[in-house]
Order: sequence, then structure tokens, then C-alpha cells
Amino acid sequence: MTVTDRSADPASSPLAGIDPRTAHAAIDLAAFRRNIAVLRSHVGDADVMVVVKADGYGHGLVPSARAARAAGVGWLGVATPTEALTLRQSGDEGRLLAWLYGVDEDLTPLVAADVDVSAQSTEQLSRLVAAAGTAERPARVHLKIDTGLSRNGIRMEGWDDLCAAAAEALDAGAIQVVGIWSHLAAADEPGHPSVASQIQVFHTALAAAHRAGLRPSLRHLANSAGALVVPEAHFDLVRVGIAAYGIDPAPGIAALAGVELTPVMTVRAQLVNVKAIQSGDGVSYGHTWVADCPTTVGLVPLGYADGIPRHASDTAQVGVGSRRAPIRGRVCMDQFVVDLGVDAADLVGDEVVVFGSGSRGEPTAADWADWCDTIGYEIVTRVGVRVPRHYIDGVA
Ligand SMILES: Cc1ncc(COP(=O)(O)O)c(C=O)c1O
Repeated sequence: MTVTDRSADPASSPLAGIDPRTAHAAIDLAAFRRNIAVLRSHVGDADVMVVVKADGYGHGLVPSARAARAAGVGWLGVATPTEALTLRQSGDEGRLLAWLYGVDEDLTPLVAADVDVSAQSTEQLSRLVAAAGTAERPARVHLKIDTGLSRNGIRMEGWDDLCAAAAEALDAGAIQVVGIWSHLAAADEPGHPSVASQIQVFHTALAAAHRAGLRPSLRHLANSAGALVVPEAHFDLVRVGIAAYGIDPAPGIAALAGVELTPVMTVRAQLVNVKAIQSGDGVSYGHTWVADCPTTVGLVPLGYADGIPRHASDTAQVGVGSRRAPIRGRVCMDQFVVDLGVDAADLVGDEVVVFGSGSRGEPTAADWADWCDTIGYEIVTRVGVRVPRHYIDGVA
């Protein structure tokens, strides 16, 4: 099979984007740092890892990482080796964990770049030992136990073998066992029985690792929701993603924790067309909405290729000045139509706020998640590569 790397082709470059004056995502790095400070203070003694995978949840990998470091964050977390190495190439030298890689990926560059790597099998551990040999330095390893998510991580049945293999590699000087970790399935559902059960399994795994002679300095289990509302899951470090970007992991979780978060991303666009339509006129593909009285419609130059969910068709709203305007008809690939009302004075070039902090009455990513039957994570991470990110605060 031939695999073509599209990133090498200038024609497919993410720089083929929208003019920032036409539409952009403004990223408020001061709000990001403030959220991190709030979360650090909330978790007290536990250390905080800020998760910047998936292009910093759509907010930009390197700018988010730099802002987190500026906020005093010692640990960053990413999924892929490429994300980790991109951070290293950007000059990041702090502690960094990568946890998701394929069977053919060369782990040597990660070990050579002093990136901590997760291992969830003796096979992965062997590859890290080999990488350590090539890089001529011990691999920094976090062993992952599956405590009940049934996603990544080794199940308890294989844990003793993984610990024994890790102890052997440790004795041989090939690895350092920096961490033991796992991930929660339902910390955003207070009282969900899986949370207590996963914590119990985690304790059992830690005890077994101790018996095998492993003394990791970091035990970590909690995501944002765990950090916010499950103190017994904090251990030595919490891994926060969505909350750092100012979005509640689920409605009511931040409030339950008594924590106030500020959404970091605001997506803005100009109206690129404004026109009157008549009663009986259908709007957008399929005419799923037909005007039942004369009105004024405005065209927003963002579509599902830019991360505006097609599920938002006929459902979501945007902020226009101090009011809301509903989406009419289907969201298209590059554009959607909003109803400005019959007496609208809005002009081509006027601003609409797709979502933002909500402080000026505009919808938030949480509102969009609700309208589209999804989660705030998906709303911000989907914002596409054509949408320029505009950093405010000057740190990036
Ligand atoms: C392993 C792991 N840890 C932590 C996080 C951060 O989760 P959240 O964004 O809910 O804080 C994620 C994100 O999905 C993850 O995959």
C-alpha cells in the first residue's frame, strides 16, 4: 500500500484558509491561564497535567502548550508521537506524556526527545526498551492499567506480567517507571458506580506494582471531571483537558465543584450577504425551512467543513449584536443562513458570534453541544483548519 503524506503537498496546506476578517476563532490565552490557575488551586496538592492533544482541543497545539507552561504547568499530555515531537520542535522542554501510538511507530524519537511514553503491554514495553537502546538513554514509562474503561490499558489479568517485565527493564537500566495510570469512564456523572470501582481497581494495581518492586512517583487517574468532583481520584496528578479550555465536562460539573471556568474560544464571522425574503421562500438545501412571513436572512461563511455541525441545521443560534438569530435551513459545507428578522438593520460585514464565552449574550460551545446532541469537546475540536486562530493576550 502506498501512503501519501498530504502535509508535504502545499496544495493541501492548512494555510488555504479563510481570511481572518471574514471568520476566525479568537483564543483568549489569559482565560486559558486563568482556568488553569483555578483548577490548580481546586486540586490542591495534586500536580496538574494540561492535555493539549487534538491541536489543543482546537485551540492550537503550540500556543496552548506555551500558555500552559507560562501558567506554571509542569506536565503536558498529548495522544500521538507527532504531537509530542511537534512540541519538542517548537522548543518545549518540559515534562510531556504521549499515550497513543500504532504498532509500526518508531518510539526512538520520543525517547531521544525525553518524552514520557505510556506502555500498556509487554510488547510496547519491549519496543520502548529497544528504543532506549537506540537512543542510548532510559525510556521514561507510564504503565497503563485498564481499571474499567475497556479502552486503552492492560487488564488486571495481565498486570503482574507487565509489572514484572517493567521491573526487569528497570533493573537493566533500560527504563524508568515514572508513572502508573488509568482513565475514568464516567467521572462526569456524579455517583456513577464505575468511578468507585475504577478507583478500587487502581489501588489494587498500585499494590501489585509495589510488590513487583516498582516505585513510580506519579499515580494518575483523573480527567477534568475527576479533577473537579472526584477528590479521591486525584492521586499525584490530574490530567485536565476540556476544563482548562473553559468548558464544563458535562452540564453542572464545574458548578458542583464550585469552580468558575471561562470559555477560551470565540468563533466569529462576518455576514457576507443580507437580503429580504418573502413568505413561502425556502432556505438552503432541501428547503427544510420555508419562511411563513417576510424576513431578512444573513449568510455566515462557515459550514460543516469548518466544524459547524450539520446537526445544527434549523436548530442552533448565533449572536448578532446583543440578540440571537436562529439558523434557518441546512448547514452547508461552507456556509449557513440565519434569520435576522423582518426589520433587521444588519449589514453585510456586520459581526456574528457563533459561540463564545456567553458574556455578551452569545451562545456558548455548551449551548451548541446541547442543540446538536453532542459534547462541548466536539464543538471546539471540530473547528476546522480553514478557520484562522487569532490569539489574544500576546503570549503566543
Ligand atoms: C487519557 C486521557 N487523559 C485525560 C484526558 C483529558 O480529559 P478531559 O478533557 O475530560 O479533561 C483525555 C481526553 O480525552 C484522555 O484521553
